[in-house]
Amino acid sequence: MFMQRVIQTLSRWYNLESRDLPWRQTTDAYCIWISEIILQQTRVVQGVGYYNRFVMELPNIQSLANAEEGDVLKLWQGLGYYSRARNLHYAAKQVMTEFGGVFPSTYKDILRLRGVGNYTAAAIASFAFGEKVPAIDGNVKRVGARFFGLHAPIHTIGFQKELFSLLFDLMDGADPNVFNQAMIEVGATLCLPTQPKCDVCPLAEACIARLQNLQKQIPVVAKKQKPKNKYFYYVDIEVGGERVLVRREGDGIWQQLYEFPMIEGDGPDWDLETVAKGLGIVENFVVKGEQSFKHQLTHQTIYARCWYLCISSDKFVLNDGWERLNEADFLLKPIHRLMEKMIKFT
Ligand code: ADE
Repeated sequence: MFMQRVIQTLSRWYNLESRDLPWRQTTDAYCIWISEIILQQTRVVQGVGYYNRFVMELPNIQSLANAEEGDVLKLWQGLGYYSRARNLHYAAKQVMTEFGGVFPSTYKDILRLRGVGNYTAAAIASFAFGEKVPAIDGNVKRVGARFFGLHAPIHTIGFQKELFSLLFDLMDGADPNVFNQAMIEVGATLCLPTQPKCDVCPLAEACIARLQNLQKQIPVVAKKQKPKNKYFYYVDIEVGGERVLVRREGDGIWQQLYEFPMIEGDGPDWDLETVAKGLGIVENFVVKGEQSFKHQLTHQTIYARCWYLCISSDKFVLNDGWERLNEADFLLKPIHRLMEKMIKFT
């Protein structure tokens, strides 16, 4: 009975106090899926613009499945982690071939889509189809750990299984959509990592961490590993009014995005001579400038240096994979965040 009342308080709070967000106005699984993948990558405030643009340009699964990869990457530009955008594209094709063009409607089936993990499948299944399955993202882990007073480190499988089962039971009799959205909302707006707003929290009267004054001790979070340093050397070559770009291949970061010709170094002090030689540039060039950049990714810190070169020889031969592009074509290519920084400088 007591828990039933807490859930009612939570639902009432959600209906009165939650933020009005565009993906909460729809039960279209496609739109909800797009919003969830975007929100894995950015905060709500920035996510709204990306979401609106995305569903405006590609309003349904068919349009995404039929889009060019470059156009999908362009809509994603600036969000980072481009494999998420490529996975979206792939999964849309999967829906067309494996599900006859109809978005799968159960947690189990949604999980089969590329790039969709437990949290996202649960979010879509509950928001779009009302399935009873807890959606546990990083914020909900914190809310759940505090609410139930769980002391296991939140990244462990043991913690995740226990929380799943406790939330599943708690959802009994609740509207799964409202329950999951409300837990996400509590995590995002009230149950903050360092300064939780317990005095206005709808879960407060039953929250173990609050009742035992353990908000600082719970959740238990393991220490993060230190990011690795990388050293990227770029040349921005201007030749005959055009610029040289290369599409990044391989299985590392930024696959299929365009960038200036580059070479990775083993330390921070490579000079232009070494870099030009490494890239096989034999023509004479004029150096117009250079700049260094520090670019932080989740697991690596990139120290990049870019030289702005001008080559006047018409004999300039492009290396394998290099493309000469005029400004209009250049601007159409999907590029990564570090490239945006480097281009602003030139
Ligand atoms: N973060 C992830 N999913 C969300 C949602 N549906 N609403 C608000 N923030 C979110």
